[in-house]
Amino acid sequence: MTATHIPTIPADRLPALLAAMPKAELHIHIEGSLEPELIFALAQRNGVSLPYASVEALRAAYAFTDLQSFLDIYYAGASVLLKAQDFEDMAWAYFQRAAADNVVHAELFFDPQTHTARGVPFAVVIEGLTHAVARAKDELGISASLIMCFLRHLSEDEAFATLEEALPYLDRFIGVGLDSSERGHPPEKFARVFARCRELGLHLVAHAGEEGPPEYIWSALDVLHVERIDHGVRSLEDPKLVERLSHDGIALTVCPLSNIKLCVFKDMAQHNLAKLLAAGLKATVNSDDPAYFGGYMNQNFTETFAALPLGAPQAYALARNSFEASFATPAQKAGWIEQLDATFAKFAV
Ligand code: HPA
Ligand code: ZN
Repeated sequence: MTATHIPTIPADRLPALLAAMPKAELHIHIEGSLEPELIFALAQRNGVSLPYASVEALRAAYAFTDLQSFLDIYYAGASVLLKAQDFEDMAWAYFQRAAADNVVHAELFFDPQTHTARGVPFAVVIEGLTHAVARAKDELGISASLIMCFLRHLSEDEAFATLEEALPYLDRFIGVGLDSSERGHPPEKFARVFARCRELGLHLVAHAGEEGPPEYIWSALDVLHVERIDHGVRSLEDPKLVERLSHDGIALTVCPLSNIKLCVFKDMAQHNLAKLLAAGLKATVNSDDPAYFGGYMNQNFTETFAALPLGAPQAYALARNSFEASFATPAQKAGWIEQLDATFAKFAV
């Protein structure tokens, strides 16, 4: 099946199809899945005091004006994570929600520097997350892997130090990414550390073109040699870049609810997801930091399809792109695409 040859799906069945179709999530910061209830439970368990009186007061603070206003609260929320069990509980909660949304494969970002800077050893972080990944496979049938992100507001030397700490655990994660404050921190700041990661055989991705200009997407591609662009919504400002991305089949891991909450677009009707697909770009839908941005995978699909000119062919393309752009094996991808085709056949008239 291809996006242009999918069976006719009655419009009233589209929401159920969006929920039921198997999908991969390629852009989720696991620390961004920490729900306020779990933040408070972990704070109590670990004796950490929070500058918020209640779950409601914390949730009320989730009114962001840009990326930085979110990051300040996101890093504060992560301060309750101290023990391996905390990291496992956080990721396990995410996997249960992902399973409910028919996510069959997930590639999770984690930010070790957010934790090592507070004295939490790298080993603790990776142990907890690895346990949750194994449990997701055993108990939920979800295939999952980890991608270690460098914080771009810190120096490249600090990224190198983090890579050094991670070396004994190279078999626990499949790649590296670049996140945190984008503006003023272009990809080329991390040229040497990404080159080293490439030599180590790691997959490479980077956030670019969320708030930053198209030039950052060019340098993520040409200087860092990334295989996917995280966000990349500003690529449409540069026709030459669109040509390059579509020619090379570089996927964009788009996060619609995140873009609205961080004021990248005024509202969902203004989001450019439909335009990205129409321009021939390999877009995918992802949740980014679902506990902070108002929803997990299916919520992202439901809200974008309700607001934009998107139908069954685009649903198929987005799900299929998520598998094709993943770092899973060709056999895994083929199996999921078969499941996707079967789901579409079931919803056809
Ligand atoms: N952008 C940059 N850094 C992040 C994000 C994001 O959307 N979420 C968590 N860290
Ligand atoms: Zn992100």
